[in-house]
Amino acid sequence: MAAAIPRFIPPHIVPPSRPLGRLGFVAAFLRNPLEAVPRAAFEEDFVALGGEGVSRIWVTSPALVKAVLLDERDKFQKITQIRLLRPLLGKGILTSEGADWKWQRQASAPMFRPQDLAGFVPTFVRVAEDVMKKWRAAPPGSTQRIDLDMTRATFEVVSATLLPSADAPAFERAMGLFQKSGTWGQLYAAMNMPRWVPHPGILAAKRAIAVMRGAVAQMIHARRRLQQDAAVEPDDLMRRLIAAHDPESGQSMNDEQLIDNALTFYLAGHETTAKALTWTLYLLARSPDWTAALKEEIAHVTGGAPIAASHIEGFVRVRQVLRESMRLYPPVPMMSRQAVADVRIGEHDVKAGASILMPIYAIHRHRRRWEDPDAFDPDRFSPEREAQMPRYQFMPFGAGPRVCIGLSFAMLEATAMLATMLQKVRFEAVEGHDPLPMARVTLAPRGGMPLRVFTA
Ligand code: HEM
Repeated sequence: MAAAIPRFIPPHIVPPSRPLGRLGFVAAFLRNPLEAVPRAAFEEDFVALGGEGVSRIWVTSPALVKAVLLDERDKFQKITQIRLLRPLLGKGILTSEGADWKWQRQASAPMFRPQDLAGFVPTFVRVAEDVMKKWRAAPPGSTQRIDLDMTRATFEVVSATLLPSADAPAFERAMGLFQKSGTWGQLYAAMNMPRWVPHPGILAAKRAIAVMRGAVAQMIHARRRLQQDAAVEPDDLMRRLIAAHDPESGQSMNDEQLIDNALTFYLAGHETTAKALTWTLYLLARSPDWTAALKEEIAHVTGGAPIAASHIEGFVRVRQVLRESMRLYPPVPMMSRQAVADVRIGEHDVKAGASILMPIYAIHRHRRRWEDPDAFDPDRFSPEREAQMPRYQFMPFGAGPRVCIGLSFAMLEATAMLATMLQKVRFEAVEGHDPLPMARVTLAPRGGMPLRVFTA
């Protein structure tokens, strides 16, 4: 785009100017785990904290991230993530390792082949239209909670494309309760507290888990009844999970494993995309020039027709904006692994037991790798400039064999939904509300994301 666009620095975390002591770390972490990321992680490649027997290591260079997620991956496991999420997600695809993980990944992968996803575009468009219908019913310029609307919409997408439909409000309430205790769980895991030490919200979280697993169990029973009645069974992810067999044991998934995986896909598959859309709409509300550029591109590619799969490739700038939005506000702001053996990455020796933190948020704003890192500048992702970018410098979907399985699905969904909304809606920021990013399970806007909505 023309260089005349004014520089825009959206809300961001200012990292602590000096290393936090233990108490400072706890206070910052509970307020917002991103505030506990040391300044050095934005400036250096490898930051080891904790002195003797170092336990917390921040890794931010593309080469070192690649070593952890790809080259030396056998020496690292997702111990902390598994500790936090196993009570909810059991031993599903996100929370298992080794052979257990591999066959579940292989069973799910066919649903996510890029060439097969185009058939979902009409659903993405229909769901975006439904949200706009709700906005249209309100007076022009009304304030809408975009974060909540996007969460409901992306939940509806998962229900309508991959899995049987679920009771969205019940899930939302239960998920809210689970997340409330989540930061304490993360803190305890980060500090290696024993599992039996109770923390605030733990009982509510247990109840929430029971509600969510119970709801999914009912859906699975309903599907099994459908199979017995020889009724037409939808060709969805659930059908593939039910049909899959572990190549080693020959066993198919029992009900517990089906619940683990269905719940994993409901949760991993909607909050993330919802946050990508929420932050993107905020950035566009603050950037009239980029909004105009996208509207022009969408009108040019579609000629005003509803978005179809054949248009997606032509939305070059829409994709640039989505990528820049996920650079500044990565929906999954932090990844971690634990070393299960002594290992050397780059020039650094890492001892077994060390926690490796890969703060995607800081990797995406690294002072040495990005020019003007806190500024919103989708031109960084022009096709020519993106082709020069090292693979592990921009990684909203992770990397290596455990890269997000829903990457292509999410990009297609976000592109189709964003283009549909921009065809007919204009968004304005609410004066005085510039939300800071907060690391919860996903990257949430502090105080939510109200925007003023004008529908055509
Ligand atoms: C903008 C949207 C999304 C973002 C930013 C995102 C991000 C990520 C990241 C960073 C990981 C890797 C975690 C790690 O290695 O520690 C991951 C894994 C995963 N994602 Fe996504 N995700 C998104 C959308 C989706 C969707 C739409 C689905 C499914 C419908 C999905 C399902 C999963 C699953 C099942 C895994 C675990 C894969 C494995 O361990 O093999 N995600 N995602």
